[in-house]
Amino acid sequence: MPADTPAVAFDPALGLAVLHTPNSTYAVRIGADGSPRHLHWGPALDAASLTDPRSPADSSFEDEAAADELAPQTGARFGPAGLRVRFADGTVGAQWHFDGHRIDDGELRLRLVDRRYPLAADLCYRVRPGSDVIERWTELTHTGETGHIVIDRLDSASWTAPPLSDYRLSHLVGGWFSEFQLQRDRLPVAETVLTSRRGITGHHASPWLALDDGTATEEHGEVWSTALAWSGSWRITVHRNPVGRATWTGGFGHEGLSWNLRPGETLQTPVFAGLYTPDGFGGASRAWHAHVRSQVLPEPDRDQPVLYNSWEATGFDVDTAGQLRLAELAARLGVELFVLDDGWFGARTDDRAGLGDWTPRPAAFPEGLRPLADGVHRLGMAFGLWVEPEMVNADSDLFRAHPDWAVHTPTRDATELRNQLVLNLARPEVEAWVHRTLDRLVAENDVDWLKWDANRPFTEAGWPGHPDPDRLWIDHTRAVHRIMDRLRTDHPGLRIEACAGGGGRVDLAILARTDQAWTSDNTDPVDRISIQHGFSQLFPAQAMAAWVTDSPNGITGRTTPLRFRFHVAMAGALGLGGDLTHWTPEELTEAAELVARYKEIRPLVQHGEQHRLTGAGGTTAVHYAAADGTEHALLAWRPATRFGHQPAPLRLPALDGQARYRDLDTGEEYGGALLRHRGIELRLPVGDHASRLIRLRRLG
Ligand code: GLA
Repeated sequence: MPADTPAVAFDPALGLAVLHTPNSTYAVRIGADGSPRHLHWGPALDAASLTDPRSPADSSFEDEAAADELAPQTGARFGPAGLRVRFADGTVGAQWHFDGHRIDDGELRLRLVDRRYPLAADLCYRVRPGSDVIERWTELTHTGETGHIVIDRLDSASWTAPPLSDYRLSHLVGGWFSEFQLQRDRLPVAETVLTSRRGITGHHASPWLALDDGTATEEHGEVWSTALAWSGSWRITVHRNPVGRATWTGGFGHEGLSWNLRPGETLQTPVFAGLYTPDGFGGASRAWHAHVRSQVLPEPDRDQPVLYNSWEATGFDVDTAGQLRLAELAARLGVELFVLDDGWFGARTDDRAGLGDWTPRPAAFPEGLRPLADGVHRLGMAFGLWVEPEMVNADSDLFRAHPDWAVHTPTRDATELRNQLVLNLARPEVEAWVHRTLDRLVAENDVDWLKWDANRPFTEAGWPGHPDPDRLWIDHTRAVHRIMDRLRTDHPGLRIEACAGGGGRVDLAILARTDQAWTSDNTDPVDRISIQHGFSQLFPAQAMAAWVTDSPNGITGRTTPLRFRFHVAMAGALGLGGDLTHWTPEELTEAAELVARYKEIRPLVQHGEQHRLTGAGGTTAVHYAAADGTEHALLAWRPATRFGHQPAPLRLPALDGQARYRDLDTGEEYGGALLRHRGIELRLPVGDHASRLIRLRRLG
């Protein structure tokens, strides 16, 4: 693309909108029926090659017509609709008239108005300098003065891949203890629905996907990927039709929900971001990581502290003296943040009571949290506190005072999960109470870090007396975002860790107001390798909380060496979560050394570029490189030994073939070409759960 080509342009004569990013072009053309149709998303093209008069945008045959940018429910369209509306007279769907465009600072809006009803839609696109990510969303407005319009579906965007010889879908599936498992399968000729009906993003699925033609690898091949920035229920429908087209439409809310759009009201969807890259899945991930850092995370340049969290060590059995003892041990290891987890408040001695009563439990913290917070600060660490502010135990003073605050349907039995119910933060008084409570906790106790948990999905989600009860699915999530934003604004320096029973609510919207996410309650390092692999498809390592805990692991029973546990956790934002009072002096010494090691490579792990590597014999690794290519850290893991063989050398494709590198620990020097094409000898220790950290520096 010539340097002076604007990033966003619209040609009214052709009805052609073109967005250029550094390595891609996206093009849309207004169809004869007024609906924006997809023309191109892929390698950079100039506008002239997009104005092919044979463009099928206007064909009246469904299979020939170009795909919609947001399919309305009218015309010869039989695939999944991105917009479904109902008017008071029973008419469904929109028929658009294109009403013009607006371009403003990298943002394009295509304005559509219904031909007969008071409904308008803005299809919005945004590109940012230096990024290949295209952000899209929709704003739907009731332009009339009376009555409401029922919205049965409002997606953020519909995306279309170009015609490919085949399609393969990559996405993430999982559960509690097994989040972010990468699934990569041929896309069936069918509609494939990825969704959460849980009110949270979900452990079982993530609103990210990637499409390729089945031949892309980690380093090579075209990949089209998208990510929805939403932390509640969502739905993405991927449609591969029999004539070989692949489109997908997605947005907030699951099927069956509806919202009443009131006169004058605009409903704005979350952003659904898309990225084309010709550089394989690794290239796609690096581009997403760069986007998350430059556009999503609130404070990406701050280092994530090495934290200690007491949950696996003490469970609900917390008190000032016991926590201070752990804090002293943690401080000696080089820990920078001490987090007090569940059990410190109300009548919370187990998970049956107390949620909602956010005052220190008198038997455990007779003088409140201040003695612990001050003690932690005196040890030179920041102080963090666990909260689960959206939830309530039925056995709590809060629920006894405000039973109506819980999400419920009066004529239905309320399902309790982990003995708790969800508070309806869509109610303004509940949002205000949650904000007030957290604001006070942070201010009164000098809290530097909140671990914000949400341990259950929504069920029987009603809002008695409210004329438009499904709104709670959107408004609850918005309230969570708003409270986090307010807390950050009012308490500069406060950091927030996102958590939902492990990695149940990790998405681009929660990361816009948190610093890292608790990846999984499963801290077994072998299981973590695949969890972290999936997490890294979209999110950077600095947002991936990873703890070293006790062995055998409390969940899997697996015994692993301390070094292996560290090496796996050092690939993210390192934390410690074991019962340090039971660690031997040798273990404490080794842990202190490894924490120090981590701090040396932290700038690379948290701010460098990540390359995922697969070696031989079940060996995998991640390679973190400084942006200027000078410093490199490689973490390699082999969970199980095979025949006692050393794995073959591991190739490092990210190195410069013309440069030389020194291993900072052994002093050996290598040519970059050798490391790229033959690989580095890993020289793993013998036995299972072998791992190694290798640091390389470019010479000259
Ligand atoms: C969830 C979190 C854990 C821990 C517990 C406390 O499961 O994921 O890390 O905070 O809640 O009850």
